[in-house]
Amino acid sequence: MLYDKFLSPTGRHLHESAIRRMGTVAARSADMVSFAAGYPDPASFPWGELRELAADLLSGADPTVLQYGPTRGHEPLIEAIVELLAARHIIVTPPQVTITTGSQQGIDLVGRVLVTPGDVVLVELPAYTGAISAFKNAQARLVGVRQDDDGIDLEDLDAVCLRERRAGHRVNLLYLVPNFQNPTGLLLGLDKRQRLLEWVERCDMLIVEDDPYGALYFDDVARAEDTRPIRADDTRGRVIYLSTFSKTLAPGFRVGWVVAPAALIERFDTAKQSIDLMTGSLDQRIVHEAVRRGVLDRLAPDLRRLYRTKRDAMEQALREELGGHLRWLPPKGGFFLWATLPDGVEDETLLARALEERLVFVAGSAFYVDGTGHDRIRLSFSAPAVDRIREGARRLAAAMAANVVRS
Ligand SMILES: Cc1ncc(COP(=O)(O)O)c(C=O)c1O
Repeated sequence: MLYDKFLSPTGRHLHESAIRRMGTVAARSADMVSFAAGYPDPASFPWGELRELAADLLSGADPTVLQYGPTRGHEPLIEAIVELLAARHIIVTPPQVTITTGSQQGIDLVGRVLVTPGDVVLVELPAYTGAISAFKNAQARLVGVRQDDDGIDLEDLDAVCLRERRAGHRVNLLYLVPNFQNPTGLLLGLDKRQRLLEWVERCDMLIVEDDPYGALYFDDVARAEDTRPIRADDTRGRVIYLSTFSKTLAPGFRVGWVVAPAALIERFDTAKQSIDLMTGSLDQRIVHEAVRRGVLDRLAPDLRRLYRTKRDAMEQALREELGGHLRWLPPKGGFFLWATLPDGVEDETLLARALEERLVFVAGSAFYVDGTGHDRIRLSFSAPAVDRIREGARRLAAAMAANVVRS
């Protein structure tokens, strides 16, 4: 490339998210069915209420609505987040919270402030690709820890950490998504959450708890209590907690937040200053009004019902179209169905074939930091309408049939 010689080492090694790449593919054809990106259903956005409150905010009565503000965020929104957190048993004060441009920026800030190049960051096998990218861009070495049916395997965690430390590596951070993980949909067991807190204390580490999906539990199989954040029981300042309004209101607002000890929040804010000075004022103000006027609370039960219906539709369609060819654990919440392919079918080959059928999903291997996962695919049921989910399952069956025959 003409500009190669101008690139910095960071610029040269920037890591692209596989999911975003698949999003571009999905946009290529109007008739494409996308099970790729974990987008919310746009029909769930509270358009009418947002229109009304945005009009009020933009009346011009309050000039601060379009003005620069503090890097840490709009103070009334921070206070509202403190209340939302209390409802989830996380008791904090405003200096322990900062607003970020989506929780993705929160992960990036953690990487900038807490990762020394060459550090090991422990992640789940498989892990959210946005976190993989952020930590790789901070020049971390990512090492995976196995999961079983109720989330991260604590024995493997202990063994992996010990092995890496014995090899002379610095291991300070464990990143995980305890509620309806991206990509597996797994829910971390309550007992494991407690044991993780004891484990990080013993090993002198920090947990980065990323929780965008906690409110989206399906009440046929999970309760709000099952999603209790690890941070709720952290009395020693071992957990950095991240969440967002992206999945419960709308991702276009780019409003997320980080909870951490005040001393760390200050460092995150200083890092954020040179990136964007602040999260968009109008975004924050609209989100704040939506929380204040009860829109968020009213929406939550509807979202749980909506995504549960879509999960049911996807499971039923896959069962009908693919019989026993795919295996999966029924998702208990969130946006994703994580499927295991039959022997001899490989994720990327199947994806190439699916694209010919105008279906896109994310190949399982994109989520693994150890090069495995070729026997898995991630199917997101959140965005497509129910009839498109059925059509997608038909296309997947066609791709699979061709794949099995060819391979
Ligand atoms: C696990 C996880 N963390 C973070 C994010 C980023 O969310 P936001 O829109 O708040 O940046 C996502 C989005 O898909 C996610 O799945």
